Amino acid sequence: SRTHCIAILAGDGIGPEVMTQTLRVLDAVEASHGFTTERSERLVGGAAIDDGGHPLPPATVEACEKSDAILFGSVGGPKWESLPPDIQPERGALLPLRKRFGLFANLRPGVCLPSLTHASPVKGELIPNGFDVLCVRELTGGVYFGTPKGREERDGETVAFDTMVYKKSEIERILRVAFTAAMGRGKKLVSVDKANVLASSVLWRETALEIANEFPEVELSHLYVDNAAMQLVRRPDSFDVLVTENLFGDILSDEMAMISGSLGMLPSASLGAKKEGTDLYFGMYEPSGGSAPDIAGQGVANPIAQILSASMMLRYSLGESEAADAIDAAVAKTIDDGFRTGDIATGDPSETRVGTEAMAGAVIARL
Ligand code: NAD
Ligand code: IPM
Ligand code: MN
Repeated sequence: SRTHCIAILAGDGIGPEVMTQTLRVLDAVEASHGFTTERSERLVGGAAIDDGGHPLPPATVEACEKSDAILFGSVGGPKWESLPPDIQPERGALLPLRKRFGLFANLRPGVCLPSLTHASPVKGELIPNGFDVLCVRELTGGVYFGTPKGREERDGETVAFDTMVYKKSEIERILRVAFTAAMGRGKKLVSVDKANVLASSVLWRETALEIANEFPEVELSHLYVDNAAMQLVRRPDSFDVLVTENLFGDILSDEMAMISGSLGMLPSASLGAKKEGTDLYFGMYEPSGGSAPDIAGQGVANPIAQILSASMMLRYSLGESEAADAIDAAVAKTIDDGFRTGDIATGDPSETRVGTEAMAGAVIARL
């Protein structure tokens, strides 16, 4: 049977809780679809700091290098917040992993199933048919990685600075990903920038207009990021695909997640270049949310973002799209059947309140 190698990096907080349940879903779908995964579970983030002092140990990087894909949980939490920035879980592990593997394209599909519209804080009449927007976030450039970055003493006080920088080639490649995604969906692309203030956004907008010539069927429009944040709440169903730089995409995707009902529902795929001669990518698959320290350890986190991230991994990196379809359908059925973790519960008597394990169990039962 087919075998795929994957690195499993559960991380911190709710990471291990939702990962354990996701691996059960993966076991079930492997059994029904005739393939296996060889899994290398490694430490990352705070868990790795506690073990050996570093958030991204060489053994973890090595396991990722040998794999077809990385399934990532989440990292960080109050325990490691006051360490020197460069060895904190986020800046010392997550960002270096994205950079090390060239994962410049972060796909975040915000989907609110019609049966969940009442869990969205956006009024139901604004999303009568649910909500289905793909956010394409640039992930290895911009202010996250630009130099100079740091702090120093100037004129007797401390200053701190970051640099928002983009090469034209970085903008071109993420726009091609977004236009291509739009071609496979509703052929509408909104490019989000701050071209009225930022030089990097002026280059972004110019480049978007150029790349648009390669995709004449796609209707391209531009929004300033502040307006985009507002329009997402005002007319959520006017969006199809949204493309933007790293920090704007970070912020807008959390907003999109909430329109979909909860951060606990939003998966993501962080993709690099295609594997030679195939339509598959090396990628890291991570829920869009974090380690949720406020609910960690209680068994109540919503595992769906992690489960759908695994589904994206099957689709984009392992070529197991039938298994991915099966997971997506089982998740949709689970929601339709009324299973709700706390984050998407409304108290309606038709709902069945469940914890992390029972939610995954309900998905498995529907596979
Ligand atoms: P967070 O995403 O962890 O939590 C924000 C809110 O969403 C919380 O109320 C949380 O309970 C809720 N939430 C998130 N995921 C959920 C789920 N699966 N089910 C139910 N509720 C869920 O953001 P934060 O509190 O700002 O950050 C906490 C830590 O996580 C920080 O250290 C941050 O840096 C880190 N973080 C890591 C990642 C990652 O590893 N990919 C992503 C975002 C934040
Ligand atoms: C995300 C997270 C990360 C980011 C943090 C934890 C570095 O918020 O994946 O959205 O900002 O990219
Ligand atoms: Mn984020």
